[in-house]
Amino acid sequence: MSLSAKDKSLVKGLWAKAEGRVVDIGGEALGRMLVSYPQTKTYFAEWGTDLNAQTPKVRHHGGVIMGAVGMGVKYIDNLTDAMSSLSELHAFTLRVDPSNFKILAHNIILVMAMYYPKDFTAEVHVSFDKFLSCLAWALSEKYR
Ligand code: HEM
Repeated sequence: MSLSAKDKSLVKGLWAKAEGRVVDIGGEALGRMLVSYPQTKTYFAEWGTDLNAQTPKVRHHGGVIMGAVGMGVKYIDNLTDAMSSLSELHAFTLRVDPSNFKILAHNIILVMAMYYPKDFTAEVHVSFDKFLSCLAWALSEKYR
């Protein structure tokens, strides 16, 4: 899948609104993933079992994740290189099953729609969804 010039500009436009709220958005997305898809909690076992969007560690890490998504927006023309070291980390050190990237991407897009309902037109939806699929693919690059 490749992103058209229009996709890229719609993604950048939505991101310009969201980048100042990465902790709120990322915390909500990560918290929802952990509550709605509890199998993902295994990777964060040392943070305890009662994890949600209000948990300080979840909010903090949500911000870290969205910081990396922001890097993806910045290097949207070269996602594979931009995500290369994170792909290596998730594959070899954290050993996160890459199917979970799609689950997190689903939660991120859901929260973007919640936060920016007016901006989240069908066109923006499809472009942001394509962008997150490309990001998930880039993160899966180093697995084999
Ligand atoms: C859009 C997808 C994702 C992005 C952009 C992302 C980004 C990141 C970043 C930037 C870090 C910090 C790396 C560092 O400290 O150098 C990280 C750590 C981590 N990620 Fe991901 N991640 C994603 C998906 C996932 C998923 C789906 C899981 C598991 C279900 C996961 C599990 C972890 C874990 C366990 C850590 C280490 C946390 C800690 O102990 O501090 N990641 N991720």
